[in-house]
Amino acid sequence: MNLTALKTKPPARKLHIVTHGCQMNVYDSARMADVLAPLGYAQVDTPAGADMVIMNTCHIRERAADKVFSALGRLRVLKEEGGGNMLIAVTGCVAQAEGEVILKRAPYVDLVVGPQAYHRLPELIAQAHRSKNSVIDTDFPVEQKFDFLPDAAAPQGVIANLTIQEGCDKFCSFCVVPYTRGAESSRPAISVLAEARRMVALGTREIALLGQNVNAYHGAGPDGADWTLPRLLQALSEIPGLQRLRYTTSHPSDMTDGLIAAHRDNPALMPYLHLPVQSGSDKILAAMNRKHTADDFRRSIAKLREVRPDMAFTSDFIIGHPGETEADFQATMALVRETRFALAYSFNYSPRPGTPAAGLPQIPAEVKDARLYELQAELRRQQDEFNAATVGLTTPVLFTGTGRYPGQIAGRSLYAQPVVVESDTELTGEIRQVKITHANPNSLLGSLNLHPDKETIAA
Ligand code: SAH
Ligand code: SF4
Ligand code: F3S
Repeated sequence: MNLTALKTKPPARKLHIVTHGCQMNVYDSARMADVLAPLGYAQVDTPAGADMVIMNTCHIRERAADKVFSALGRLRVLKEEGGGNMLIAVTGCVAQAEGEVILKRAPYVDLVVGPQAYHRLPELIAQAHRSKNSVIDTDFPVEQKFDFLPDAAAPQGVIANLTIQEGCDKFCSFCVVPYTRGAESSRPAISVLAEARRMVALGTREIALLGQNVNAYHGAGPDGADWTLPRLLQALSEIPGLQRLRYTTSHPSDMTDGLIAAHRDNPALMPYLHLPVQSGSDKILAAMNRKHTADDFRRSIAKLREVRPDMAFTSDFIIGHPGETEADFQATMALVRETRFALAYSFNYSPRPGTPAAGLPQIPAEVKDARLYELQAELRRQQDEFNAATVGLTTPVLFTGTGRYPGQIAGRSLYAQPVVVESDTELTGEIRQVKITHANPNSLLGSLNLHPDKETIAA
C-alpha cells in the first residue's frame, strides 16, 4: 500500500452545483468544480447527502433572483436533516449584488462568493470551517481570476465553452451585469490559446468563446499588441483539430468591419450569430443607452449576409422598457419581420434595483404581457420557418454522442440545432454530411449522406 498517497489524499466529499443564468455561469460552475477537486470534492447529481452545495445564481431579472431564496429554503431542510454539516455556498450574480442581504434572509448560508473570487474558494471554505461563521467575499480583486483558476482539467465535451472576456462597461439602463460582473476585462490571448489547445487535446472540436461583450475583446496578444476578436479567432482556427468556432454575446455597436470580414475569411467560424438588439425603436434604444440605432443593426445584418449568404441570426428583446409606446413596440415588430431570426429570446422588462431605468414610471404588466405575446408568436413562426427550411438539405453535422434512444446518434448543425440520426456508427467528434428529413420545434431528424459531395450547402 502506498502510505504517502494515503496520507496526502483528501477525504472524499460530495459536491452538488446548481447553475442558473447564462453560459458564463455554466462555465464558472465547471471551473469551481475544478478548484475544489484537489480538496476531494467530486460532483453528485442531487443535493441530498452532499457535503457542499453551491448555488450559482443569476440576477438579470426579478424572477431569476427570487428563485434563489425559494431554493435556499429547500436546502435548509436538507442541511438540518443532515445534522447541519452541509456547507451551503451562494455564488454568481445574486451573491455579488445582494451580499450581506443573503445572510440576513438565509443565515444558514455558509459562504457568499462573487464571480471574481472563485479562485479563493479553498481558503474561504477553510475559513468557514474554522470560524463557524458565514464568510462573504464579493471584492473585485486587482488580480484577474483567470490567472488563478485552473484550466479545464477534465474533458469538456465535443462542444464546449471558453470564457475570454468578462464584465461590462456599457451600462445599459436596464442591466445589472456591470454591477455584478464588474468592469470589462479580456483574458490574454496566450492563455486563451493554451486552454483551447488543451481542450482540443481532450476531444473538444467546437468552442464557443464567451463574454458579456465578447466582440469588444481586446486581450494582450503574444506579440505585445492588443488582439481583437477576429485576430484571436484566426489564431484559434489554426489549432489542428478545432473545427468550429462561435462567440457570444455580441453588442451591435462592436460589430466591426474586421469581425464581419472574419465571417467571410475564417472557415471555422459558424454562419450563426447572436446579436441582441433589445428594441427596434430608436427612442427606446437611446433610453436604454444602447449607443446604436435600429438602422445600425440593420446595416450590420445586411453586411454579414452579404459576406456569408447562409448567415442566420438570433437575438434578445426587452418588451415594456420605461417609455415604450405602442408605436415603439410596432417598430420592434417591424424590425423582427424584416430581419427574420432563426431564434430569439424575449422578456418583459424587469426593474432591477440600482439600475437607472428602475426609477422611471413603469409600463403596466398587462400591456407588457400583450406585447410580449404578439412578439413571441412572430418569433415562434420565424423559428419554425427556419427549421422547416432545412428539411431536404444536406448539411454538415458535428456528432457529440449517442441520442436519447438506443440506435440514435446526435450532433449539432452549423446553426447549433440538435440533429438526431438513426445509426449505430460511432462518430463522436466527427463531422458528417446529413440529409435533414424532418424538423421538430427544437431539433432536426436526418440520415447520414453516403455521397457527401452532392447537395452540400456549406463546408
Ligand atoms: N451583453 C448582452 C446581454 C446580457 S443579459 C447584450 O448587451 O445584449 C442577457 C439578456 O437579458 C439581454 O440581452 C436582455 O434581453 C435581457 N435582460 C437584461 N436585463 C433585463 C431586465 N432588466 N429585464 C428584462 N430582460 C433583461
Ligand atoms: Fe448588460 Fe448592456 Fe452590458 Fe449587455 S451591454 S451586459 S445588456 S450593460
Ligand atoms: Fe445572470 Fe449574471 Fe449571467 S446576472 S445572465 S448570471 S452575467
